[in-house]
Amino acid sequence: DAPAEVADQFECTLVWMADEPMLPGRPYWLKLGARTVGATVTEPKYKVNVNTLEHLAAKQLTLNEIGVCNIALDRPLPFDPYTVNRDMGGFILIDRLTNATVGAGMLHFALRRAHNIHRQALDIDKAARAALMGHKPAVLWFTGLSGAGKSTIANLVEKKLHAAGCHSYLLDGDNVRHGLNKDLGFTDADRVENIRRVAEVAKLMVDAGLIVLTAFISPFRAERALARGLLEDGEFIEIHVDTPLEVAESRDVKGLYKKARRGELKNFTGIDSPYEPPVAPELRLDTRALSAEQAAEAVLALLRERGLIGG
Ligand code: ADX
Repeated sequence: DAPAEVADQFECTLVWMADEPMLPGRPYWLKLGARTVGATVTEPKYKVNVNTLEHLAAKQLTLNEIGVCNIALDRPLPFDPYTVNRDMGGFILIDRLTNATVGAGMLHFALRRAHNIHRQALDIDKAARAALMGHKPAVLWFTGLSGAGKSTIANLVEKKLHAAGCHSYLLDGDNVRHGLNKDLGFTDADRVENIRRVAEVAKLMVDAGLIVLTAFISPFRAERALARGLLEDGEFIEIHVDTPLEVAESRDVKGLYKKARRGELKNFTGIDSPYEPPVAPELRLDTRALSAEQAAEAVLALLRERGLIGG
């Protein structure tokens, strides 16, 4: 008499159990009953002071904190509210890289938008658009430290693609942070959101048939994996612009490393904020051994080898 509901967006109470904070937008696994699906916490509404039960503003949750959050799944799931059925309303969150349980939660209710927003079927699809382009759509995801040479190499690659008649677009960290992402800074939480938005924009541009180049530090493996996961096999080309910290720091084109060393710039990547190098990138460019021109040629060679562009 009381069938389970099915939805992909919920409000829930979440207890955070990991040393690493919960970051909105970071992809986790959610396990409910026998099902495991991808999930992101979209918005913490507040956290609870466990002594006074007071509601406090929150952007993230840290170890042992309890909060009320919205959560979005990558597919619909049958559920009951936790108050009705503990087994069908209780879940755990799992880190995708370490498989550790990082949180536990109780579902309150499905968000109304989960039922009222549907995907619109469109007649002209990615394949149709790509067919007009003369090349395959893809994302060339450049990652590396500040000053590694990401923008320089991406810019050269785009010039070569343009000359070869390819349709491209370069999303560059410093530029995107002046527009779409001007509300974001450099805390871990803001970097996660920065890359999540860029990944979604890149996906749309691939859908439009373009070769998209992104030049962001993108320091965390989890968000680069999220970007890869939004695309089809073979569409995501991760390019590690591998420049050791000493070399990037000695160049210091923007003078930011000096500022960071003086303590005038907090959360600077490589100094007091981490960079997690890719484990298995499609391409690694050692900028000590290669000139920018040679690095760009290596990218073009990979694209030809993979049949993404002609020639
Ligand atoms: S990311 O970490 O979120 O991917 P993004 O690539 O968008 O960073 O922006 C990095 C650029 O912002 C750097 O090249 C540098 O010019 C500038 N910047 C300003 N503050 C910082 C900081 N604390 N850490 C790193 N880069 C910073």
